[in-house]
Amino acid sequence: MKSRLRRSADPLAAKADVLVVTVSDPKRLDGPAAAADKKLRGVIELAAKNGELDGSPGSATLVHAGERLGSPRVVVVGVGEAGSAEDWRAAGRAAAEEAGRARRAAVAPPDDATKDQVCALVEGIGVGAYRFDDFRTDEAKKKPAIERATVHSAAVRAADLASVDATVDAVNAARDLCNTPANHLTPTTLADRARGLGKEIDGLKVTVLERRQLQRLGAGALLSVARGSAEPPVMIVMRYTPKQNAKPDTVLGLVGKAVTFDTGGISIKPSSGMEEMKMDMGGGAAVIEGAGLVARLGLPIETLAIVPATENMPDGAATKPGDVITAMNGTTIEIVNTDAEGRLILADALTHAAREGATHLLDLATLTGAIIVALGSVYSGLFGSDEAWTQEVRAAGESSGDLAWPMPLHPRYDPLVRSPVADLANAAKKREAGAVYAAQFLREFTEGLPWCHLDIAGTGMVDGAGTGAGVRLIKALVAGMAAHGEGHDAAVGRPRDL
Ligand code: BES
Ligand code: MN
Ligand code: ZN
Repeated sequence: MKSRLRRSADPLAAKADVLVVTVSDPKRLDGPAAAADKKLRGVIELAAKNGELDGSPGSATLVHAGERLGSPRVVVVGVGEAGSAEDWRAAGRAAAEEAGRARRAAVAPPDDATKDQVCALVEGIGVGAYRFDDFRTDEAKKKPAIERATVHSAAVRAADLASVDATVDAVNAARDLCNTPANHLTPTTLADRARGLGKEIDGLKVTVLERRQLQRLGAGALLSVARGSAEPPVMIVMRYTPKQNAKPDTVLGLVGKAVTFDTGGISIKPSSGMEEMKMDMGGGAAVIEGAGLVARLGLPIETLAIVPATENMPDGAATKPGDVITAMNGTTIEIVNTDAEGRLILADALTHAAREGATHLLDLATLTGAIIVALGSVYSGLFGSDEAWTQEVRAAGESSGDLAWPMPLHPRYDPLVRSPVADLANAAKKREAGAVYAAQFLREFTEGLPWCHLDIAGTGMVDGAGTGAGVRLIKALVAGMAAHGEGHDAAVGRPRDL
């Protein structure tokens, strides 16, 4: 979806397929909602009286306007009274949902809406208008969506809308990567996407490490996962050097798990629902598109994005339970369960990020079923080795809508990670604390740097589709780092913006 700004024109007369207006309290219509109601001789008020119109965030009603307005229909969306960006985003998503077959929307927020609220509304429409139709050949079965939004507001500038569009594009591109089946999205084609971003965006350099280079680097953990697959593994490296750098001593290291298909390997998964494991690269998608977005917006923090990509397949060459492998940093790992593959490929990627100069680490991964049991699809699990850095990531989650809830690490969990034969085991014998176990394992590879881990297994895929979880958090995190440092003083012990 593309948006554009129209300040001069009367929104009620704007030629579009649908007019979007907002209400906080249906009993007190104001702004464009009240003006539209007047032209429609009170039908919106009537809908409110009949209880069809609810001002709560994400509620929406469609009203037909005939010839009385520039658009034949009006979507009235509730934004609630709290005024939070998340509420306005929910309103935008609901508007896109309710807009039916409309392709052009005129968006008319009230005059007192803030820049953040208008941006959130447009962002919500953009992500709400997402469709995945790449593999449908029947045009008639493709569900139409809003393609263009004309925004009538004095609260935003054209540059604000361009930034919203870039954000929506990045989130939706991450969803495309997730939703693309694994025979089309392989480690190689994922790397092609990253390379494409590198060609397109100033200051973004992309290199792709292939099998021979991975062997030279000793990336034994990543290579062990790839052994059973006919698709060659890669490690995608994206480096963004900003023109203006707000924190010259800071390099944000983003790491994203990209298992383009996870069968479980020799410890094979049950077949029911296995098709969803094409989305086991959601962390990698968020990191690629998130880093691309940071670079496209020219945010002033140097960013290094590392995405280890492979399939996890069973075959005659595949890694077997009981095998011991050596990770890039020299740590030996007993493979107790070949389905605990994400932590293995992340181990080498974290080592590589630290060696390439990252000063702060954040990894995103669809890592454990246990985090889905714990937090469902609302909050990602947030683990961190440094209090201030963890609060910084959590605050970015709150402000962006990519929510993350703190989970514990503690030395008393360490026995879970031990192996009788090697330095570490990749899976515990017990099922308890599965998400914590995975995080404790990753921590071993973070070289003492401030590090956070987001387990997005529950938030990254919902109802069989990718969500793009993490992209907006990355943008908010980098914006926050640029605005108020790494948060080492202000944020200690207290989440900001909560
Ligand atoms: N990719 C899965 C985690 C997952 C499960 C993501 C369901 C999304 C939906 C991961 O590789 C995995 O298989 N984890 C195992 C670890 C176990 C073998 C220690 C799990 O969570 O069961
Ligand atoms: Mn697995
Ligand atoms: Zn996996």
